Amino acid sequence: MDWRQRPRCDEAPAWPLLQAHFARRFEGPGAFDLRRAFAQDAGRAAAFSLDAGPVFADLSKNLIDVEVRRLLTQLAHECGVAAYRDAMLLGERINTSEDRAVTHVHWRWAFNPAPAPVHQAQQAIVIIANVVPEAAATQSAMLDFAEKLRADAAITDVVNIGIGGSDLGPRMVVQALRAGGHASGPRLHFVANMDGHELAALLPSLRAQSTLFIVASKTFGTAETVRNATSARDWFHAQGGGDMARHFVAVSANAEAAAAFGAGRCFAFDEGVGGRYSLWSPVGLAIAIAAGRAGFAALLAGAREMDAHFAGAPLTSNLPVQLALLDLWNRNFHGFASRCVAPYHHGLRRLPAYLQQLEMESNGKGVDLRGRALPIASAPVTWGEAGTNGQHAFFQMLHQGCDVVPVEFVLVRRAAHNLPGHHDKLLANALAQARALMLGHAGDAPERHFTGNRPSTTLLLPDLSPRSLGALLALYEHRTFVLGALWGINSFDQWGVELGKQHAEEIRRALECGLEDPRLDPSTRALAERLRTSKRD
Ligand code: F6P
Repeated sequence: MDWRQRPRCDEAPAWPLLQAHFARRFEGPGAFDLRRAFAQDAGRAAAFSLDAGPVFADLSKNLIDVEVRRLLTQLAHECGVAAYRDAMLLGERINTSEDRAVTHVHWRWAFNPAPAPVHQAQQAIVIIANVVPEAAATQSAMLDFAEKLRADAAITDVVNIGIGGSDLGPRMVVQALRAGGHASGPRLHFVANMDGHELAALLPSLRAQSTLFIVASKTFGTAETVRNATSARDWFHAQGGGDMARHFVAVSANAEAAAAFGAGRCFAFDEGVGGRYSLWSPVGLAIAIAAGRAGFAALLAGAREMDAHFAGAPLTSNLPVQLALLDLWNRNFHGFASRCVAPYHHGLRRLPAYLQQLEMESNGKGVDLRGRALPIASAPVTWGEAGTNGQHAFFQMLHQGCDVVPVEFVLVRRAAHNLPGHHDKLLANALAQARALMLGHAGDAPERHFTGNRPSTTLLLPDLSPRSLGALLALYEHRTFVLGALWGINSFDQWGVELGKQHAEEIRRALECGLEDPRLDPSTRALAERLRTSKRD
């Protein structure tokens, strides 16, 4: 099957129907209003809420009605979303620009073939688990390694060196599990930035004899990671570290480069695992060290619950599908150019950063799978900050600014601390913000007036356990996949990050050698020259 021939959302029959419905119900006088919608339909909250594994989602405070949902779901059917999903789960080479399968889901199922297939796609997961035959053995070895390390009193510190997907996922999950009381073991540190200030600030707190470095890089060629790993290795030798093989491990799809670097062992994975989808693979080694075998297994189990829901639930009650359709509605019909993610849990404060890569690197594309320029907008800007901090920074703009920004509130029912008087207030603040955005306020002066009718979605987790977190992250992955499928783009390549890397290499040479490179534009050449000469002064 040539998946490039699937209809793009704007070519599907439901598209003009949605346009007509939008013009009729969502524009001009008497346009849709959330307050009126709730007043007219006592069942609206329940009608627009969905459960998927441990995740409960309330979509009712969005600018949608029953007809929007019906037409959007029809659109998903017409775009062949279900068949495309099954193709991904079956291991077909849907990453067409790189001619690869997309295998991150299979790493979640490697140990755990589904017991009784209830849906063709779930069956597909069982069959296709064999497409990455090494996954079960590698994961098992990685978990053994993590357990031994947790028991090894001689190792007090672990440093994960990686960037992008080799940093954001593991860093965010470890932070979340720590806050949820599900992490223990050696101290874990993360170093990502090319900026040496990050590594330089950490090294003085470490002792070579008691530190393990994980070099996490799918390609093992990323400039930042190679630079940081090389500096860490130099530091290790300068400290008389000695046994490099014991103190450096790699996780990579390029085992040869890892061996050439001198890593003692490499937990290898296949090229079908995209960087931003890789925390379930050996890139999750730092997570396994923090959470242990049982914690990592629970993370995978939570994600599998979401996989099973995604594979088996009808599109109309399929949470990743419905969230993706809502994203499309907000972006392509309402024209909202960004979406704000506000996790009301300190442990999830890096969730927006993780989602920025997942969503914008996956779907920030301007051409479709056939190479045609997209006539509609794709990924909006994803941004956000933990609540309640964000309330004292940018919520002013969300309530009264000229742009409407849909907000996604992520709430966690149970706190892992026992400080009285915090958690209920935190949750109340999240609900209050969503309510205020919707209701607005007729102020007695223009500057006190809130228009209201501003959309938001609320996601609810019972706790910040590995299971809940696994389900939440798999939900975001599948939602991103569906949105890319609707836009007809390849969510699994990232050619857009290559050009800057090439320029950086040319400019570095100019900076170091003072080459008057005639290929540099006058502005860049002048700035490079200024930097070079001021460095010398
Ligand atoms: O430059 C972007 C990118 O390729 C991301 O997609 C990836 O997560 C990151 O760099 C790191 O790549 P690697 O794991 O190969 O070092």
